[in-house]
Amino acid sequence: MRIIISILLIGAAVGAAAFGILGFQGKMSRKPPVELYSDRMFPGMDRQPKLRPQEPNHFFANGVSSQLPVAGTIARGEPIQTTDGAVYSFEDSPVNTGHVTGTTNFVELNPLPVTDEFIQHGRERFDIYCAPCHGKLGDGNGITKKIGAMAAVANLHDKRIVQMTDGEIFNTVTHGKGLMGAAGPLMTTPDRWATIAYLRALQLSWLGSTNDLTAEQKAALK
Ligand code: HEC
Repeated sequence: MRIIISILLIGAAVGAAAFGILGFQGKMSRKPPVELYSDRMFPGMDRQPKLRPQEPNHFFANGVSSQLPVAGTIARGEPIQTTDGAVYSFEDSPVNTGHVTGTTNFVELNPLPVTDEFIQHGRERFDIYCAPCHGKLGDGNGITKKIGAMAAVANLHDKRIVQMTDGEIFNTVTHGKGLMGAAGPLMTTPDRWATIAYLRALQLSWLGSTNDLTAEQKAALK
């Protein structure tokens, strides 16, 4: 008799538990959900000690939660000086995207003024960020290939890459391609463009011949 009552009780308990867990699945309710935690012991994410925009707030004298910037505050970040004027990092502009503004077409040329100093800086960046894979000459024979970490690395003197627009290379450098990681998070925007300016110099040196020299330089060679 006792055993039968126990079995019935256990059965009822299991049934109630199963119903409690599964019974209301998929049912809609307009009642607020049960919050098992209290604010202090297990603060859930339903209630957060934060201010919403436009919410009244007595902490500040003017009673507003969204405070205006302090007078004389200067915006974070500096604009980049491009050949087309100053551009902030959030603007849809070739220097930030590699695209002609408002289109998906890549820009043909570097939007930053290309000077000797700029190319020298690009050389430094190239040797740090690109040479490990592409090699200092850009021919795809970097150290990662020698130790077998990278099977095939693009030769940057390939006709296809020489003919690519600066904007497309900027896009590849920024977002990566295949096994090549994105350098966008590693390098500043001007640094990426400087690297491309140096890459162009590298490609030119590869394609050059003695015919590009002045008569004076040729004479000096002999
Ligand atoms: C971790 C190794 C690695 C590094 C670092 C690296 N690359 Fe690459 N890069 C590759 C590989 C691998 C490919 C071939 C990707 C593919 O076609 O799948 C490639 C392809 C390219 C291409 C050709 C893209 C195309 O559309 O075919 C360009 C241009 C390029 N890299 C430029 C650079 C520049 C500039 C840097 C330095 C800022 C750089 N890479 C850094 C490994 C690397």
